[in-house]
Amino acid sequence: MLLKSCCIYSTGVFSILVLISGIVLALSNVFPHFLQSVVEKEVVLKNGTEAFEAWENPPAPIYMQFYFFNLTNPLEVLDGDRPAVVEIGPYTYREYRPMEQVDFHDNGTKVASVNTKTYIFQRNMSRGPESELIRTVNIPAMTVMEQFKDNLIMANLISSYMKGTGEGLFTTHTVGELLWGYEDGLLKALKTLKPDLDDVFGLFYKNNASNDGEYVFFTGQQNYKDFARVDTWNSESTLSWWTSDECNMINGTNGASFHPVITKNETLYMFSSDLCRSLYALYEEDVTVKGIPGYRFSPPSEVFANKTLNPANAGFCVPADNCLGSGVLNVSPCKQGAPIIMSSPHFYQADEKYVQDVFGMKPQKEQHQTTIDIHPLTGIILQAAKRLQVNVFVEQIPTFSQTGNARTVILPVVYLNESVVIDDTSARKLQKIIVEQNVVVNIPFMLIGLGIILGGVFMFLMCRQKVPGSTEAERQPLISS
Ligand SMILES: *[C@@H]1O[C@H](CO)[C@@H](O)[C@H](O)[C@H]1NC(C)=O
Ligand SMILES: *[C@@H]1O[C@H](CO)[C@@H](O)[C@H](O)[C@H]1NC(C)=O
Ligand SMILES: *[C@@H]1O[C@H](CO)[C@@H](O)[C@H](O)[C@H]1NC(C)=O
Ligand SMILES: *[C@@H]1O[C@H](CO)[C@@H](O)[C@H](O)[C@H]1NC(C)=O
Ligand SMILES: *[C@@H]1O[C@H](CO)[C@@H](O)[C@H](O)[C@H]1NC(C)=O
Ligand SMILES: *[C@@H]1O[C@H](CO)[C@@H](O)[C@H](O)[C@H]1NC(C)=O
Ligand SMILES: *[C@@H]1O[C@H](CO)[C@@H](O)[C@H](O)[C@H]1NC(C)=O
Repeated sequence: MLLKSCCIYSTGVFSILVLISGIVLALSNVFPHFLQSVVEKEVVLKNGTEAFEAWENPPAPIYMQFYFFNLTNPLEVLDGDRPAVVEIGPYTYREYRPMEQVDFHDNGTKVASVNTKTYIFQRNMSRGPESELIRTVNIPAMTVMEQFKDNLIMANLISSYMKGTGEGLFTTHTVGELLWGYEDGLLKALKTLKPDLDDVFGLFYKNNASNDGEYVFFTGQQNYKDFARVDTWNSESTLSWWTSDECNMINGTNGASFHPVITKNETLYMFSSDLCRSLYALYEEDVTVKGIPGYRFSPPSEVFANKTLNPANAGFCVPADNCLGSGVLNVSPCKQGAPIIMSSPHFYQADEKYVQDVFGMKPQKEQHQTTIDIHPLTGIILQAAKRLQVNVFVEQIPTFSQTGNARTVILPVVYLNESVVIDDTSARKLQKIIVEQNVVVNIPFMLIGLGIILGGVFMFLMCRQKVPGSTEAERQPLISS
């Protein structure tokens, strides 16, 4: 009898202890913090870690898609009409981008490498072959005309040369030529005067099977927040194209990896050499990719806002004080002086006037915004799409009759969509981690549950102990009587 009640009371005490420890563990967030610190230590660029392997050779297939804008009314544009374009695409390339010449230094806190990108055309994911023709602005000619517009002798010489060959403001080339390069007559002629000039022009000329320079990244060994953060690019820790120190900063990663343990209030910085600047993305919404929950981050409109709306952007006005409107970026200083203007596709998030200036623009958030979907605990990218439009600044130049009466306009040439979705093998691995994470995070709640069950058992036993006692007392008189 004594042994039995001792057992019952220890069950009671034990249930309370379990309940309390469960509640304490749940309130103190010990298990989530423990998990985070494990991940923070594991996600480091170090030979042998999974994070390093994924960084060195991204397992998920990356696709680069190009959508060109075919100009339909060149003669009317020369007469001062609004340009009209038709979007033509996609032309899809599989992109391979391994990190090469990987070299750890500074005790494994930094790693140097180049990111070699190779593009293989995917006919079955494209609208047509690379030999399809696109009519667009003659970028080499526009560049040369802008360069020599104030040099009357040269301008006359070039203008009469162009008349001789029939070259004008617009030109028709194949998709392959426009992207990967073609020999340009005007550049070839100029080369006789300036032998170091390259007579081949292409928007992605020399970008295939090559890299954009040497990066040094932090490995995240000292601080998980520094995982894959760019320290220097081409041995420089800042850029020099822009007119303020803030705008010349190289911030964040290269956009292909992010640190683990990401919170919703975080600002994710990244540097894009295509865009010639750093930018950032903010949390937008929760998403699910292949059954995995993640956070969607995207650049807010302030990133590309004009200097009135975002004074920090004043440094992107080049030459100094020569400001364009919101949503467009003059990158000519970083494109050898070519009058190239970057924007989001269809001038998404840009000043309405740019959309109105070109017939055929139709900005849509879903198709045209840049997004990064991240698994917050590990920082693994579930899905991402980088979207950029290449435009040319076109204006009438009095010294060149080739520009006719053209109105000043930012004319879209092509937009690109570089996208990735997590591969099935990595997704399965991540699913497993999530299951384990759920088990670990729920241990306190399991303890609380166990405490409640034990408490129930305790009460049941207490009641049963009393009930037989009373029945015995009731029975006794019955027997004696
Ligand atoms: C990583 O380790 C493997 C095998 O130990 C070695 O072959 C490889 O060169 C190392 N990579 C780097 C970047 O050090
Ligand atoms: C890029 O280079 C690779 C190998 O050097 C080649 O197979 C591929 O066709 C090239 N892609 C383009 C678009 O020229
Ligand atoms: C396209 O062709 C490639 C082989 O060239 C193949 O690997 C890929 O699965 C195909 N994609 C589609 C969508 O059919
Ligand atoms: C683009 O426009 C030109 C000129 O009108 C035309 O020859 C060409 O076929 C068009 N390209 C495509 C892919 O439709
Ligand atoms: C770089 O980051 C700093 C804050 O760390 C910020 O003030 C600056 O505007 C950023 N520059 C760019 C170009 O994003
Ligand atoms: C972001 O939120 C976390 C809690 O979710 C908080 O600890 C952290 O201080 C916040 N960071 C900033 C920059 O507000
Ligand atoms: C910046 O954009 C806002 C809103 O579109 C506009 O009101 C303002 O005039 C613009 N400022 C400049 C300098 O263009």
